[in-house]
Amino acid sequence: MKFGFYMPVRLIQGNGCVREHGEVFGKMGKKAFIVTGKHSARANGALEDVLYALSEAQVEYEIFDEIMSNPTIEVVYRGAEKMKACGGDFVVGIGGGSPMDAAKAIALLYSQDIKEEDLFGGNYKDCLPPMVMIPTTAGTGSKVTQYAILTNDKKETKTSISSDLLFPSVSFLDPGYMRKMGRRTTIHTAIDALSHNVEGMISRRCTDLSDAMAKEGIRAFRDCAEALIQWDGETELSMEVREKLLYASTIGGMVIAHTGTTAVHSMGYELTYFHGTDHGRANGLLLAAFLKTAAGYMPEKVEEILHTMGVKTTEEAGKVLSRLLGPEPALTEEEIEKFAGISAGAKNIKNAPFELSKEEIVEIYRKSLNEE
Ligand SMILES: [Fe+2]
Repeated sequence: MKFGFYMPVRLIQGNGCVREHGEVFGKMGKKAFIVTGKHSARANGALEDVLYALSEAQVEYEIFDEIMSNPTIEVVYRGAEKMKACGGDFVVGIGGGSPMDAAKAIALLYSQDIKEEDLFGGNYKDCLPPMVMIPTTAGTGSKVTQYAILTNDKKETKTSISSDLLFPSVSFLDPGYMRKMGRRTTIHTAIDALSHNVEGMISRRCTDLSDAMAKEGIRAFRDCAEALIQWDGETELSMEVREKLLYASTIGGMVIAHTGTTAVHSMGYELTYFHGTDHGRANGLLLAAFLKTAAGYMPEKVEEILHTMGVKTTEEAGKVLSRLLGPEPALTEEEIEKFAGISAGAKNIKNAPFELSKEEIVEIYRKSLNEE
């Protein structure tokens, strides 16, 4: 049996948990550097709650709200410069995966000088400021992982900084921040969480423990799938479903903190980089065809995943996903060839216990985006 594990993040969960725990911020220092995007943290109330908790704890703050979707290397260097200029004892990341990943990279770059060519090298000094994360979507695992994923224009894809130093100290999990989230974002992020759990089970680094967790995460997604399919996006989704999706995404993050993501993420990054496809949507488009290919190498494991998802075949899994995602424009053969070339060389595709050939990668893209 294998069940070693490391995930040193304190999780504080529940409605209103940020306001109730000003002392957590107070213990981290006298000044917070808040990293977020332009709008959503204000609209969903998360920023207001953080400012309330900081004032309760008499902590000063500075806000850097320039993080865009799929943050660039340039923006995290800029954020670190701003933090150096105004000071800060700890970093608070508020938002989806983009602000949280950017917050981690900013904490890293604030603590030490790293040249851009060494940014993804993994050779960092252990002197980062503490980090607090407040997710406002239920997809990314960033609140519990050691990864910060940035848009890498030199490689024309997204690349991950990976270091145990990037684990946050504390993450606040309040499903209330997702209450008003629209249908597309809710579904795309939920499928990202599903993909983390599924890919975690098809990783060469999986263990009995990470599989047990992944299955719990997949079950939580399955429990919500029908409600998501039926939801018109006009009424409010129940808080029970919101809470369960946050649970699925937290488990998914814990799983990939141990196993890494694999081929679906590697291949999805190209759809995001070149087409602007939402990250979770990109994974959802590719997942069923990937499982079909994986079944040729590890049929029992794929069977276990399908059973946990509540379906019998990879085709059935594909139908559930396409009911959630709706139609998607086809890729050209040139695009498929190009994307396959880039993802075949990615770091995380090598986490799969079998080596996908370039032809298999091409086939997964073709089946996922060019067939009914
Ligand atoms: Fe992801």
